[in-house]
Amino acid sequence: MNEHIHRLQEELRRARYVADQALTTVLYLAGRLGRPVLMEGPAGVGKTELAKVMAQIRGVDFIRLQCYEGLDAAHALYDWDYPKQLLTARTVIEGHEQRKISTDIYTEEYLIERPLLKALRSQPAPVLLIDEVDRADEEFEALLLEFLAEFQITIPEIGSFRAQQPPMVILTSNRTRDLSDALRRRCLYVWLDYPSLEREVEIIRLRVPGLAEELIRQITRAVRQMRQWSLLKPPGMAESIDWAQAIEKLDVRELDEESIFLTLGCVLKTQEDMEFVYQKGLALLWKS
Ligand SMILES: Nc1ncnc2c1ncn2[C@@H]1O[C@H](COP(=O)(O)OP(=O)(O)O)[C@@H](O)[C@H]1O
Ligand SMILES: [Mg+2]
Repeated sequence: MNEHIHRLQEELRRARYVADQALTTVLYLAGRLGRPVLMEGPAGVGKTELAKVMAQIRGVDFIRLQCYEGLDAAHALYDWDYPKQLLTARTVIEGHEQRKISTDIYTEEYLIERPLLKALRSQPAPVLLIDEVDRADEEFEALLLEFLAEFQITIPEIGSFRAQQPPMVILTSNRTRDLSDALRRRCLYVWLDYPSLEREVEIIRLRVPGLAEELIRQITRAVRQMRQWSLLKPPGMAESIDWAQAIEKLDVRELDEESIFLTLGCVLKTQEDMEFVYQKGLALLWKS
């Protein structure tokens, strides 16, 4: 393994994030090539966490843009501080000042930075997380494409801002809709799936260090079993870690029907899924 990649993998682990060689390689290349990374995968497999951890190990700011339906330029790029502009305009009018309002109230002083502009202007270059981009509309994707192509934002009243050094950009998607080919082509792509059994054991070990090895394995096996059933909300890593923490806090010695029954709310998040698992029988989980 390339020594830089090996080192990055070790740094991630020290920040309590377990990444395999393929994932680490993409992260390394993203940094070297200055390309955004698009990460897709089911909920709770560590997409958001990875961006936070990358900022932590690079020792730079972490800037997050959470996407949602209707997200627009005024919330992603920049906006004007309307109340402040209004106040200035009123003062000018009341005081009969001679200033030309139209130019004076469109300056830096009245500018509100939103995450994308902030990411361009912060130095050293931060890590920018554009989280759950599939939730935003297609028009927003077009805007994003422009941003990712140039790392530049033009504000007609002020001028253009370009990043001295482009931020490291991580986009995530839970695949609730398909993203455009243009956006995909711009990025290095990672499909982040549920981890293998061994990797999941390793993650829980890192995150819940006090828990006995045998319990970690029982929890991992039970969670993996549940992922094979067609649940509405299959448990992700967040759930297996929560569950492991609960089992530790309750001083459970061994996973059995009763302890699973009492803590199932850590793993399953809908009544329908609980019903489904009861029907299957809890024994399938602790004997799995
Ligand atoms: N590879 C991993 N190493 C360490 N912790 C992980 C890993 N993957 C997931 N986690 C844990 O699972 C939790 C959920 O991950 P998150 O980033 O919110 O998932 P996603 O964004 O993919 O839905 C995180 O808080 C983190 O503690
Ligand atoms: Mg997330």
